[in-house]
Amino acid sequence: MPKFKTVRGMRDFLPKDAEKMRYVEVAARNIARLYGYGEVITPIVEHYNLLTAKSGEEIRKRMYAFRDMGDRRVALRPEFTASIARLVTAKMRQEPKPMKLFCAGSLYRYDEPQYGRFREFWQANYELIGSSKPEADAEILTLTYDLMERLGFRNYWFKIGHVGILRGILTQETVAEEQQNTIVQLLDKKKWNEALTATHKLGASQSCVAVLKKLLETRGKDVSKVLKEAKHVVEGYEGAVAAVENLQEILELTRNSGIKFETLIEAGFARGLEYYTGMIFECYVPNIEVALAGGGRYDKLIELFGGEPTPALGVAQGIDRLVLAMKKHGVTPKVPEKTKVMIIPVDEELRTKAIELSINLRKAKIPAEVEVMGRAVSKALSNADRREVTHAVIVGPEELREGKVVLKDMKNREQRTVEIANLSKEILEDTS
Ligand code: HAM
Repeated sequence: MPKFKTVRGMRDFLPKDAEKMRYVEVAARNIARLYGYGEVITPIVEHYNLLTAKSGEEIRKRMYAFRDMGDRRVALRPEFTASIARLVTAKMRQEPKPMKLFCAGSLYRYDEPQYGRFREFWQANYELIGSSKPEADAEILTLTYDLMERLGFRNYWFKIGHVGILRGILTQETVAEEQQNTIVQLLDKKKWNEALTATHKLGASQSCVAVLKKLLETRGKDVSKVLKEAKHVVEGYEGAVAAVENLQEILELTRNSGIKFETLIEAGFARGLEYYTGMIFECYVPNIEVALAGGGRYDKLIELFGGEPTPALGVAQGIDRLVLAMKKHGVTPKVPEKTKVMIIPVDEELRTKAIELSINLRKAKIPAEVEVMGRAVSKALSNADRREVTHAVIVGPEELREGKVVLKDMKNREQRTVEIANLSKEILEDTS
C-alpha cells in the first residue's frame, strides 16, 4: 500500500493545534451568546446555484463543485452567508426581527495554499437580519472588536469602506450592475488602473473616472477628516453622498459608545463578494497581510433568494487566521491550568479498582485516565509526566486494604496517602 498523505491544501490538526482552534471557536460562541445570537448548523454541501448566485467571480472560480450521484450540481460551501440567506428565506420567514444567527464550521475554497490561505478553513460567522439601522452595523463592528479584545489582541485595526460610494457613482453614470461587478472585482484585487480603464470603457464619463481616481486616494486613519474629504470628492453623486453619511453615522455610534479601535477608512475599498450593498470592513494585525475577519451589509440577498425585502448584515472571523495571528503576536490563550489525573494500578489484580476510581473521579468532573499499557509504576509515572498529568493515583494492595491510595502531585513530586472516600476532594483542594 502507498503511504497516504493529506490532499494538497488540506491539514490534520494534532491535539495541541486542535485545542487552539477550539479555544477560538469557544470564544466566538461566547460572544454569540453575549450578543444574543442563536446557533444554527447548515450543511457543508449546498446547491451550486445557491452558492454562486452573488458570491462573485473570485469565489465562483474556486469552488469545490461536482455532481452528486443523483446528478445534482452541488458544491462544498465556500462561505456561510448564502446558506443563512437560504435558511432565513425558506424556514424562518415568520420569525420576529431582528434575527440573530451564529454558525461555525469548515469552508472550502480552491485557493493557492500559502501563509494564512487554506483550501479548508474555519469561520465563526454572525448574521444580523432585519435591520437597516446604523446601530445594527455598529453591533457587527463591536462584536468583532469584542472578540479581538477577549482573545487578547491589542494591536489590530479595521479597514472600513462602503460599497454604496462606488455603486452610487456608477449607477448614476448608468453603468449596469453586472458591469459594476467587474469593476468591484478589479478593485478587490487592487488592480486600480485596470479598474479605472474598465470604468471608462463601460461608458462612464471622463469626470467620473477622475472622481474614482480621487476616491481611491481618499484613505487614512483620521476618520472624520477622511469622511469629510470623501463627501467632497463624490459631491453631485447623491447615492454616494448618502453612503458616506451612513458610514459617518455608523462610526459615530461606535465611537460615542466608548469603543475604541484603530480605523483605516478607504473610500474606494471593495470586497470580492458581490452581495454587499452597504458598509464593508476587514480586520487586520501587523505582519500578516491577510484579513482575520471580513463582513458587511447585504440588503438585497434575501429578496434575491425569494424572501421579502430584508436588510441584513454580518461578519465572518477566520478561526485559523486568528490562531496564526495569536501565535505570531504571542497572544496566549487564557486557559486555567487543567487538572489531569492518571490512575496507576501496581499490579493486574488492581485494574478493576483503578477503573472504578477513574469512573468516580469523572463523576466529580475530574478528568481521569487509567494506565492501559500495563507499565510498571516508575515507567507509568514518566509517561504521566509526558502527558502533562497533574496528579497520579497509585493503587497498591496495602493502602487499598485500608481504603486508601497514594496521591502524587506531579509538579512538586510530593506524595501522600489519602482515603479513597476523600480522593476527589483532595485533588480539587490541591488545584483550587
Ligand atoms: P470573507 O472575507 O470571504 O467573507 O471571509 C471572512 C474571513 O474568512 C476572512 O477574513 C478570513 O479570516 C477567512 N478566510 C477566507 N478565506 C480563507 C482561506 N482561504 N483560508 C483561511 N481563512 C480564510 C465571507 O466569507 C463573508 N461570508 C463574511 C460575511 C458574513 N459577510 C456578511 N456576513
